[in-house]
Amino acid sequence: MTCASALILFIILAPITIVIQLVQDMTRVGQLCTKYRHIGNITAHLGLRTKALCARKQEVDMRLIGKKRLVLLVASLAVAGCDAPQPSDADIQRSIAIADEFQSRLQSKLGRALQNGGPTNAIAVCAEAAPAIAEQISAETGATLRRISLRPRNPGAETIGELRERLMALAAKPTDADGNPALDNWVDRRGDAATHYTMRAIIMKDQPCAACHGTEIKPDVRAAIDERYPDDQATGFRAGELRGAMLIALPRKAPGEK
Ligand code: HEC
Repeated sequence: MTCASALILFIILAPITIVIQLVQDMTRVGQLCTKYRHIGNITAHLGLRTKALCARKQEVDMRLIGKKRLVLLVASLAVAGCDAPQPSDADIQRSIAIADEFQSRLQSKLGRALQNGGPTNAIAVCAEAAPAIAEQISAETGATLRRISLRPRNPGAETIGELRERLMALAAKPTDADGNPALDNWVDRRGDAATHYTMRAIIMKDQPCAACHGTEIKPDVRAAIDERYPDDQATGFRAGELRGAMLIALPRKAPGEK
């Protein structure tokens, strides 16, 4: 929810809730008073009447407290909505550039390795090159980047919790309206520090991906994968599916910092 919509919702909802509550309570207390007025005339029943009214008043009070809590809840939601920093276009563009850089460096290594010794040889190259390139780019840009997957080859690509949910949403819709890899951007705030996250879909293709991630893996390639990744889950993908995602974390700049 954006800040503006949260505030508007609050401004509309809060007075309506209070007015409805007041009218309801006044009517109820009014009805009760009429009902007990007759009994009130009989002195013997005076004790009972006061007691009943008292109990009723307590109940009304409790419900008022409940409503106050609701109003507070809506208010805090509105404040939280205002407080949550939004991802900026500049950070999104920077993250996309970082993801492109990683993909292009890795793909050129992978391409060369495939040409020189086929998929069996390229597995070793991929296994070493991918983390090394991620580290290089981290050092160059100050961002942290990793590849993640719902069915990972490298166990380090496994995700849990919120990240996994976001990745599942990406898997349901891996490309945007223009056919580009889908993006998910958000900002996570911890105290004074904030981090901008971009998750960008990595789409499965037939060439060159299928040799190592496809539905028919050659036995020598399978053996080479199993040797390094005994818990491999990253085969059986078809072109167009989500193979995984790049996750780029940018430390958010403090206001005014360039
Ligand atoms: C030569 C075999 C090979 C080819 C071809 C290949 N990969 Fe991989 N892929 C691997 C290996 C090995 C890893 C694990 C690397 C590591 O340890 O970080 C991996 C990991 C990944 C990951 C990271 C998540 C995970 O499961 O660990 C993604 C995403 C990925 N590959 C996508 C692709 C895509 C898309 C293509 C085609 C453009 C492709 N791969 C082509 C071997 C290959």
